[in-house]
Amino acid sequence: MKTVVVTGAAKGIGLGITRQLVEQGDRVVAVDLDAEALDDLRAVVGDQVVALVGDIANMKTHEAARDAAVAAGGLHGWVNNAGIDWVGAAHEVTAEHVQRGLEILQIGPMLGGAVAVRHMRRHGGGSIVNISSIQGVASFPRYYVYGAAKAALLMATRSIAIDYAHEGIRCNVILPGCIETPMTYSTLPKNLQREDALEIEGRLAPMGRVGQPHEIATMVAFLLSDDASYVNGAQIAIDGGATARCFAYPTLDL
Ligand SMILES: NC(=O)c1ccc[n+]([C@@H]2O[C@H](COP(=O)([O-])OP(=O)(O)OC[C@H]3O[C@@H](n4cnc5c(N)ncnc54)[C@H](O)[C@@H]3O)[C@@H](O)[C@H]2O)c1
Repeated sequence: MKTVVVTGAAKGIGLGITRQLVEQGDRVVAVDLDAEALDDLRAVVGDQVVALVGDIANMKTHEAARDAAVAAGGLHGWVNNAGIDWVGAAHEVTAEHVQRGLEILQIGPMLGGAVAVRHMRRHGGGSIVNISSIQGVASFPRYYVYGAAKAALLMATRSIAIDYAHEGIRCNVILPGCIETPMTYSTLPKNLQREDALEIEGRLAPMGRVGQPHEIATMVAFLLSDDASYVNGAQIAIDGGATARCFAYPTLDL
């Protein structure tokens, strides 16, 4: 049984990851800002989850998560998943917008990575998974800060991957495409039915649909496991083929 810290565990992709890990018998330290959603999570998944309310922008949150994992049986894995939708083009942003966006989307995962490696290198290694986005490699309109922060996570991943591989620490990054989560719901046009709006979002991918949290969670579980023992520094897009295509030509019936 492994113990894994998952940030942003109460909803969306983080909830999917937590469910998957618990189902396979792992323990999860579930970190989230939303105390109520964490209560709901505990009610559903039970004792295999230790809930921790905190902001990932704060180093103390990560240290508390590490301590909770150690108390629960040791820190074996760490998933930097928490994030926010942060819209604004360069001409629109304020200093506060840039600062808070980077605090959550870039600095938070970097603090988490730092706390994780400090512990793992003294305790036999471990596996770290960062959740970036396809926006880390290709721009969406009006995501000045979000895209830059997600790109930074790709390099933060590689930095850990090369610095600590010899100490048994692996670090990989996932680039989700459009996944059906509360974050995605919050961005859908209000004048459309949810199903219709998701159908339009799904056209981003050649597969013609949005993804589901469990489709990210299965890859995270693999990367955390010993089955991925030679996977290190990898950048894995889970996007239905969206980033393989540079223009949304209609799918041909070949
Ligand atoms: N949904 C998508 O289409 C999509 C696509 C690409 C990347 N991502 C990334 O996947 C990750 C998860 O996204 P999601 O769609 O599940 O989002 P979500 O909004 O559905 O869930 C995010 C969770 O993180 C928590 N959170 C937010 N800020 C926090 C903070 N400062 N400290 C602690 N917890 C915090 C929220 O309370 C929430 O429970 C994010 O990093 C996001 O950028 C999502």
